[in-house]
This record gives sequence, C-alpha cells and structure tokens, in this order.
Amino acid sequence: MADNERTLVILKPDAVQRGLVGELLSRYEKRGLKIAALKLELISRETAKRHYREHEHRPFFASLVDYITSAPSVLLILEGPEAVEITRATNGDTKPAKAAPGTIRADFGLTIGRNLVHASDSVESAAREVETFFGGGGVIDYTRAIDAWVVEE
Ligand code: RTP
Ligand code: MG
Repeated sequence: MADNERTLVILKPDAVQRGLVGELLSRYEKRGLKIAALKLELISRETAKRHYREHEHRPFFASLVDYITSAPSVLLILEGPEAVEITRATNGDTKPAKAAPGTIRADFGLTIGRNLVHASDSVESAAREVETFFGGGGVIDYTRAIDAWVVEE
C-alpha cells in the first residue's frame, strides 16, 4: 500500500456519552481506513496533560484536560494511505462552526469545547501519540480481504 500511515484517533467523552461511537467508527471504516487498534479508556490527568502539552500555556488548557478526562474515551489507531491527512479531513475544522458539512465536527458538533474527536496532526505526532496510548501493546498487523478494492496495488 503506497504511503501507508497510522494515526491516533480519540472519540472524546462527549462522543461516548452521546452514543455516537458506532456512528463515528462507521465513518472512518466507510472511508476505507483500517482499524489497527481499539479500546475504551478513562484517560488519566497525567496522560491528558502530556498528550495536550503543546497547549499548556493556552487559556483553555485546564478545561481541555477536565473535558478529556471527564468520562471514558475510545482510543483507536487508523491505518491507510495518507491516513493522517484523511482522518483530519474526515473530522473537519477544530471549530464546528467552521467545519465543512459532511465532516464529523459539522454534522455532530456545535462548539469547540465539545468537538467530539481528536486525530494526530502529523506523522511525527501520530508516532508519539500511538506510543502514549498503545505503547503497552494492542496494535495488530493484519490484511483485510477488501483491501485491494479500497487501494490499488
Ligand atoms: P485535536 O488536537 O483535539 O484533534 O484538535 P485540533 O488538532 O483540531 O485542535 P488543537 O488546536 O490541537 O486543539 C486541541 C483541542 O483543544 C480544544 N480547544 N479549545 N476553547 C478554545 O479556544 C479551544 N481551542 C482548542 C478543542 O477540544 C481542540 O480539539
Ligand atoms: Mg491537535
């Protein structure tokens, strides 16, 4: 598969609480992305602070950490050609009001503080975030019978 990448996705606590896990996973699956790892986890404050450390001096940092640790999240790794960019495009703009119709944040969200999903913003961030959330294992290498119908050889 050309330019195969892995990216880390979080279905944030609001997505889980609103019963949108199946719907959101389905969007990534329908796009053709492959799930390489998947788990439900209550993210610790320590992990949340590390994950979002680039924002630690921003005014919204405390509320962001409260939000992401407030209830369980679904953590997953998606795999596919240009998976980092494609997953961010599927999620849409950080601010739901600016997100294009058809994206997750436009179709299900209203405000930036409850924007449902996270996805790594670069291949380098993805490698770091995969290590943060799946460093202990749980990533599976496998082929799907449909792969040749999703990506040309
Ligand atoms: P994410 O990291 O969650 O995938 O989102 P992103 O790359 O699109 O946006 P980023 O700038 O990394 O912001 C991380 C998360 O912080 C919250 N946020 N709140 N109140 C605010 O102004 C504000 N700005 C950002 C959002 O939950 C955003 O997804
Ligand atoms: Mg980000």
